Amino acid sequence: MPNILKKLSTLLAGLTLMFGSVDAKQSENVETKKALIVYFSHTGNTKLIAERAQKELAAVNYQVDLHRIEPTKPYPEYGDKLKDLAKKESENDNCRPEFEAINVDVQSYDLVLIGTPVWWYKAPKVVLSFLEQQDFSDKEVRFFITHGGGPGSCISDMEIACKGAKFGDNIDVYGNYPGNGEIDYEKVAPWVEKMTNLNNQ
Ligand SMILES: Cc1cc2nc3c(=O)[nH]c(=O)nc-3n(C[C@H](O)[C@H](O)[C@H](O)COP(=O)(O)O)c2cc1C
Repeated sequence: MPNILKKLSTLLAGLTLMFGSVDAKQSENVETKKALIVYFSHTGNTKLIAERAQKELAAVNYQVDLHRIEPTKPYPEYGDKLKDLAKKESENDNCRPEFEAINVDVQSYDLVLIGTPVWWYKAPKVVLSFLEQQDFSDKEVRFFITHGGGPGSCISDMEIACKGAKFGDNIDVYGNYPGNGEIDYEKVAPWVEKMTNLNNQ
């Protein structure tokens, strides 16, 4: 082959290699994963964990949607009135308080995180109201709860409400009642790292 043709063919091979690798990179970028975080929080503890989880997920390139469950009829301020009402609700298996609409399609997310405080050793009923309205089939769902030392059946209450979901590691974090803006974040980063490495396990 004449020298000039040799040079041209080497150049062409180089260009193919180069553009091939750019294509591969572009398709990697397109695959941004999506996470949904939905939480209930009355005095702010669970909100702090939700926001930290959002930050950790964003740090590993997840696009994160964060929603708070807002009861249509707000609960009383912390204190005896709230405790009595929450106790009544916890004892009524059929209680499903209404909440402000959250327009999300759980099926469009790679990961779904659900957070709540523990109320009377259970998941607050308003959280079950939300969970039971969604289609969790085959979705990876993780829970985070905050509590004062007695988590009770909170996580299994939520698992029952997330029909068809796939479960993994959850976290529970001590939370003062009422919340005072302080919480221990140490469990959040390793938890997020594990759930986002599902394919590498
Ligand atoms: C009505 C009510 C009931 C509670 N019941 C429990 C309980 O059964 N076990 C527990 O460990 N903590 C219980 N707590 C404490 C809260 O779960 C804890 O302070 C939580 O971190 C509050 O979260 P929040 O600030 O996101 O609302 C209760 C708090 C309230 C207001």
